[in-house]
Amino acid sequence: MIQADREDGQQTDGDIGANPEAGEPRVIDLRDLRLTLGSEAGEVNILRGIDLAVTAGETISVVGPSGSGKTSMLMIVAGLERATGGGVTIGDKDFTALSEDELALFRRDNVGIVFQSFHLVPTMNAVENVAIPLELAGRADAFDRARHLLERVGLGHRLDHYPGQLSGGEQQRVALARAFAPEPRILLADEPTGNLDGATGEQVIELMFEMSRLHDATLMLITHDPALADRCSRVIRLEDGLIVEDSARPSSEPAPDAAPRAAAE
Ligand SMILES: Nc1ncnc2c1ncn2[C@@H]1O[C@H](COP(=O)(O)OP(=O)(O)OP(=O)(O)O)[C@@H](O)[C@H]1O
Ligand SMILES: [Mg+2]
Repeated sequence: MIQADREDGQQTDGDIGANPEAGEPRVIDLRDLRLTLGSEAGEVNILRGIDLAVTAGETISVVGPSGSGKTSMLMIVAGLERATGGGVTIGDKDFTALSEDELALFRRDNVGIVFQSFHLVPTMNAVENVAIPLELAGRADAFDRARHLLERVGLGHRLDHYPGQLSGGEQQRVALARAFAPEPRILLADEPTGNLDGATGEQVIELMFEMSRLHDATLMLITHDPALADRCSRVIRLEDGLIVEDSARPSSEPAPDAAPRAAAE
């Protein structure tokens, strides 16, 4: 396992990064990944042979023009879309060998996802949005944990509010609390600040990096914002379904032992 000393002291199931003989634990491993979908105009080659290995704790930004395949790649890593060719191993799971049910279970326990448009359930208040997935996963402490997470993202005073009663930034913070609630090993974010103004987006980003560090999660983030991309330890550029650049960045993130900032209010 990557890290036994987790925020809540829980033992991990070792699903991800559990191979000590492999040196650096590999969290995401894409090999000649292909995605071809049919459309009325014929077949579309959306991903045309992606090779990507990501080790535990990396922060990866994915950049590239509209239509280059960023969301498609993220959806495959999330297990929400099936590759049509090549290999996908997330943690120690070969996605191509898993059934839909197995994939859904793995995703629930190991992958947090944040979307541009928040994707909260409108008929559930903030606590319920975070707690219900945990409760469905069988966690007895679902509501306590949801409240704890919401306090962590600075929403302790908005627990009973419904999404329609929350600002965009607040909704995205609920989505972050929900994404981190099951202690995922991977946090995937698809343009998480795309619907937020600059200052609000900045708060959400701070929180996302802070929580990724705290939870020891590997972060993969799609963004069109070069400044945000540069904050990651590695930048992947996609063009026309291929990786055309893969570069390490001197991260401007504070050292891991720096004191975590208080949650943004
Ligand atoms: N179900 C589908 N059937 C056919 N083509 C699709 C399908 N889904 C996506 N595509 C095409 O795949 C390509 C890549 O789409 P994708 O959403 O991954 O791009 P993106 O890089 O995330 O773009 P953006 O920056 O605009 O979000 C696009 O050309 C899109 O039209
Ligand atoms: Mg996209």
